[in-house]
Amino acid sequence: MSKVQGNMKSCLQPMAKIVVSCRGTDGKNNALVVGYCCNCSYDPPMVMVGIVPSRYSYKIIKETGCFVVNLATKQQKEMFDYLGSHSGRDEDKFSKLNIKVEEGIKVNAPLLADCPINIECKVVDSIVTGSHEMFVGKIEYVHCNGEIVDIKGEIDFSKIDLI
Ligand SMILES: Cc1cc2nc3c(=O)[nH]c(=O)nc-3n(C[C@H](O)[C@H](O)[C@H](O)COP(=O)(O)O)c2cc1C
Repeated sequence: MSKVQGNMKSCLQPMAKIVVSCRGTDGKNNALVVGYCCNCSYDPPMVMVGIVPSRYSYKIIKETGCFVVNLATKQQKEMFDYLGSHSGRDEDKFSKLNIKVEEGIKVNAPLLADCPINIECKVVDSIVTGSHEMFVGKIEYVHCNGEIVDIKGEIDFSKIDLI
C-alpha cells in the first residue's frame, strides 16, 4: 500500500480528553476541555496540559499557578461538550450547568465532584510550544471514586467509561 501525506495537526490520535478546572483570584470557578495533556514525569509525578493563551482559563492558571485535571465519563458528555465550546469569559459555566463542586485539599481550585478521578496540580514550569503553552503540573493529590481503586490505590481504568 502506498503512503500519502497526512494532516500534521491531527496525526496523533486518539488524544486523552480531560476537563481542567481552576479558580480565579476573584473566586470564580471555571473549567475547559483539554485534549493536549499527558503524563510527563513518573517521579515526581507530573502531568502537562496545553492551554491556548486566548482561553479565559489561561490567565487564571497563569495567575494562580494551580489547576485540577478531571477525567470525565461518557455519561458526562453533555457537560464536556459545553465546557469545550463556551467560555467562562461570557458566563459562569458552573452555575449554568449546575456543576457539583468539591474543594481541593492542596490547591485552591474546584474538583468536579461527579468525575471519577480528580488530580490536583501545582504549576512548576511552562513551555510555549507554539499555539499552546504547556503547563507542567506537579501532582499534589489524586481523588478517586472508591469503587475504582484497589487497596494500594491503583486505579482500574476498565471500570470507568472515559470519553
Ligand atoms: C475535544 C476538545 C479538545 C480541546 N482541547 C483544547 C486544548 O488542548 N487546549 C485549549 O486551550 N483548548 C482546548 N479546547 C477548547 C476549549 O476547551 C474551549 O475553547 C473552551 O471553551 C475554553 O474555555 P474558557 O475560555 O472558559 O477557558 C478543546 C475543546 C474540545 C471540544
